[in-house]
Amino acid sequence: MLTDPISRLPLHANGAIALTGAASGIGAATAARLNAAGHRVITVDLHDADVVCDLATEAGRRLAIEKVTELAGDALAGLVTCAGVDTSRNLPGSRVVSINYFGTVALLDGLRPALARRGDAAVVCVGSSSATVIPDLPVELLQLCLAGDESRAGELADATGSALAYGASKAAVALYVRHSAVKPEWIGAGIRMNAVAPGFIETPLLGKPRDASQSDPVLETFLEATPAGRLGKPDEVAALIAFLLGPEARFFCGSVVFADGGLDAKFRADHWLAVWNRPARLVHRQVGSLRRGAA
Ligand code: NAI
Repeated sequence: MLTDPISRLPLHANGAIALTGAASGIGAATAARLNAAGHRVITVDLHDADVVCDLATEAGRRLAIEKVTELAGDALAGLVTCAGVDTSRNLPGSRVVSINYFGTVALLDGLRPALARRGDAAVVCVGSSSATVIPDLPVELLQLCLAGDESRAGELADATGSALAYGASKAAVALYVRHSAVKPEWIGAGIRMNAVAPGFIETPLLGKPRDASQSDPVLETFLEATPAGRLGKPDEVAALIAFLLGPEARFFCGSVVFADGGLDAKFRADHWLAVWNRPARLVHRQVGSLRRGAA
C-alpha cells in the first residue's frame, strides 16, 4: 500500500487523479504534492500537460473528457478542477465565466461516469473567497450559470465586467457543488464532491510577482484585507485539496472550505448563518403528527 509521506495515511493504491490547471500556481503545487504521495496524476491545461486543451471551448472540453477517460483506464479515483482565470489579464467577462464555471461543470459532468465506476472517488473544485467577499454580485449572472445558459451568461458577463464575472463564476461553482454533491448521481454513486475557497494566494494569477519588501499598492490592499497579514502559499491550498481527496475526509460532502487567512470570517462573520424557514410541506406534516400525538 502506498503511503503519503506527509500524513502517513494509506492512499488509493490504484486509480488516477485528473487535475485541471496543473501547469501553474495552486494546480502545480497540487500536482507536485499528489505525485510525491505516489498518485498517478493526469494533468490538463493550456500548455505543459498530459492533455493540452482550452476549457473555454466546447471542443477543448470534449477533448479533455475523452483523453482523461482514456488515460484513466477503467476508472477515475479523483478529479480536481483548478483551471481558472481572474481579472488581472483584462479578459472579457464571457471568457472568465466560460473557463471558471462552464469549463469546470463540463468536466464534472463529463467525467462523472468514470468517477462513478470507481465507487469511492473524490472531487475537489477550486472556488474562491471572492464568491462571498465581493459585494453586489450579479444574481442574474449566477442564475444563468446555474441554468447552463453559457451564451446569455457570456453576454451579461461582458456587460458587468470581469471583476463581478469572476466573483459570480466562483459563487456559481460553490453553489453547483452544494446543489449537486448531495444527489444520488454524486454521493449516491460514491463520489464525494467538495470545494475549496482560497483567499489571496501568491501565484501568477495575481499578476506580476509581488515582493513584500517593496511598496506595491495592490499587494498592500491584499495584505490589509487579510487578517493573517500575508498572502497564502500555493502549497497551503494544495494541502487542503489533498486532504479533501483523501480517506480522512470521507465524511465531507458538499462542503466549501475556506483557506483565506480570515477574509471570509472578517467580511461575513454573521452572514454565513442564514436562518432558513422550514418548507410548508414539512410544517404541515409536523403539525399533523403533533396533533395526532396530542390526541
Ligand atoms: P495560475 O494562473 O497560476 O494557474 C491557473 C492555471 O489554469 C494555469 O496553468 C492556466 O494555464 C490554466 N488555465 C487558464 N485558462 C485555461 C483554459 N482556458 N483551459 C485550460 N487551462 C486553463 O492561477 P492560480 O492562482 O493557481 O489559480 C488556480 C485556481 O485557484 C483558479 O481557479 C483561481 O480562480 C483560483 N483562485 C486563485 C486565487 C489566488 O489568489 N491565486 C484566489 C482564489 C481562487
